[in-house]
Amino acid sequence: MQISPSILAADFANLQHELEAIATADWAHVDVMDNHFVPNLTLGLPVVESLLKVSPVPIDCHLMIEDPDRWAPPYAEAGAGSVTFHIEAAADPVTLARDIRAQGARASMALKPGTPFAPYEELLPELDMVLVMTVEPGFGGQAFMADQMPKVREVREAVRRRGGEIWIQVDGGVSGETIERCAEAGADVFVAGSAVYGAESAAEAIEDLRAQVSG
Ligand code: DX5
Ligand code: ZN
Repeated sequence: MQISPSILAADFANLQHELEAIATADWAHVDVMDNHFVPNLTLGLPVVESLLKVSPVPIDCHLMIEDPDRWAPPYAEAGAGSVTFHIEAAADPVTLARDIRAQGARASMALKPGTPFAPYEELLPELDMVLVMTVEPGFGGQAFMADQMPKVREVREAVRRRGGEIWIQVDGGVSGETIERCAEAGADVFVAGSAVYGAESAAEAIEDLRAQVSG
């Protein structure tokens, strides 16, 4: 069970401080948006390179961008511990996942709420993680989509059947109210933006989330 706070909900003028505030987390989730794949713009490779120098925890890059085949491997090369691309945007996901792994990062595939898992199950051997989105990607602070839990179960079932150590991440609306449902469905990496950075103490929020799923 791992917690990956999303810095999308952090103070962008103080990112070093905001990363230090989540030093007890397992990862820092960094949402890269290009204003094309999603209707929002955040940050790109130069900022991630700077974050990597100061982050107390490994960086989990969630790339909500067009043409990840071209743009994702450089995040791995820069030192991100995990690089997630959206399958809806990938032209050649096998080569892309291999490129990410060749740079020493974990390769991960994300599915938007409307994207089914079954057509992509055969990619599992190329992957270290599957991200099941529990909101439409693009913005923090949206309501959790409980209707994605069957997909989490389906991925968990496929991973169990095929063997291997593939993590299942959920992202969007994950909080004290919803995290147990995600864990029960089979998720084991939990992204939380507003639930962590919107709390009075990010460290306490992380511990509270962890306590709810490690019982
Ligand atoms: C949404 C991003 C999420 C977002 C989650 O497109 O991928 O990582 O920051 O924010 P919360 O936890 O507030 O839903
Ligand atoms: Zn994200």
